[in-house]
Amino acid sequence: MIDKINQLLQEVEALKAANAEELEALRIKFLSKKGAINDLMADFRNVAAEQKKEVGMRLNELKNKAQEKIAALKEQFESQDTGCDDIDLTRSAYPVELGTRHPLTIVKNEIIDIFARLGFSIAEGPEIEDDWHVFSALNFAEDHPARDMQDTFFIEAHPDIVLRTHTSSVQTRVMEVSQPPIRIICPGRVYRNEAISYRAHCFFHQVEALYVDKDVSFTDLKQVLLLFAKEMFGEDTKIRLRPSYFPFTEPSAEMDISCNICGGKGCPFCKHTGWVEILGCGMVDPNVLESNGIDSKVYSGYALGMGIERITNLKYQVKDLRMFSENDTRFLKEFEAAY
Ligand code: DAH
Repeated sequence: MIDKINQLLQEVEALKAANAEELEALRIKFLSKKGAINDLMADFRNVAAEQKKEVGMRLNELKNKAQEKIAALKEQFESQDTGCDDIDLTRSAYPVELGTRHPLTIVKNEIIDIFARLGFSIAEGPEIEDDWHVFSALNFAEDHPARDMQDTFFIEAHPDIVLRTHTSSVQTRVMEVSQPPIRIICPGRVYRNEAISYRAHCFFHQVEALYVDKDVSFTDLKQVLLLFAKEMFGEDTKIRLRPSYFPFTEPSAEMDISCNICGGKGCPFCKHTGWVEILGCGMVDPNVLESNGIDSKVYSGYALGMGIERITNLKYQVKDLRMFSENDTRFLKEFEAAY
C-alpha cells in the first residue's frame, strides 16, 4: 500500500495539463469518488493495525498534494484566460465603419447655409401642433376648403391636435412671441395623409423662410429667390414665378427653376418643359401678421417654403422617395463624397 501511495505521489508531483479538459480528466482520475485516491481510502480498512498510523498519514499527504496540485493548475488556466500575456497588440482591430451624413441632412444644411449668410437664423417648432398654429393663424378660415389642400393627420379624440402639415406653423410660433425685424429659417419634418409610393410619403421635410420688417417688398423676395437658386443649383440657373394661391400669402407664387438636368432644353425629368417647380412663396398676408400680433400697417414680409426631398431629388436624382427613409447603407454611402 505504501508503495502504491508513493507511486501516486510521484505522479501527482509531475502532473501537467495543456487545457481545461485535460485538467478535468486528471481531477476525475485522482480526486473523484471513483478516483485512485478514494480507491486507496476504501482499501485502508484492510491495512494491518500497526501500519494504520503511517499509511493514514501518507494517504492524507497524497490527498492534500493532489488537491493542491490540481488547484494550482486550475489557477494557471484561469489567469491565462484573462491574462495579458496572450494579447497580440499588433493585431488590427475589427473594421469600424464610419457612418455618413444622410442626403436630406446634407441638403438641409446647404439650404440653411445659404440663408444664414443672408442673416436668417434657425427657428424650430413642434411636430405635434394645434389647429391654430397650422391653419387658423395662417388665415385658413374655419370651413375654408383650403384646409383640404393638405391631407391632415388629426387625432380622433382631440380634433384640435394635428401632425403639422407644413413648417409654416413655425412662422406663427415665432411671430406670436416676437416683433420685427424677424428673419428666420425653419427646417423640419411634416406629415400628410398620403398613400406611400415612389413619389409621395406620409412624412417628409420642409424648410420655411420668413422675413418681416418695415418696407419689405416683392422685389426683395425675388432677389432672395434668385440668389438661392443660383447658390443651390449653379450660377446659370434661371427662375420663373407663376401666380398661385396660398391662404397665408398675398400675392402668392410658385417658383420654377430652369431644369438643372437638361439645362432648360427639355428632358423627361422636366417633362420637356425646361422648368421644374421647387417652392411656394409670397408676401405675408396682412391677416397673418395681425393674427400673430404684428401691426400690418407698419410691417410687411415675405415667406417661402420648400420640400427638402424635392430639392435633394433635383440635385441627386433619387428616383424613389422611399429610399430616404429606408436607411439602406448602400444608398446612404453614395452621398459620402457630397459633404
Ligand atoms: N406651406 C406651403 C406648403 O406646405 C409652402 C409655402 C407656400 C410656404 C408659400 C410659404 C409660402 O411660406 O409663402 O405647401
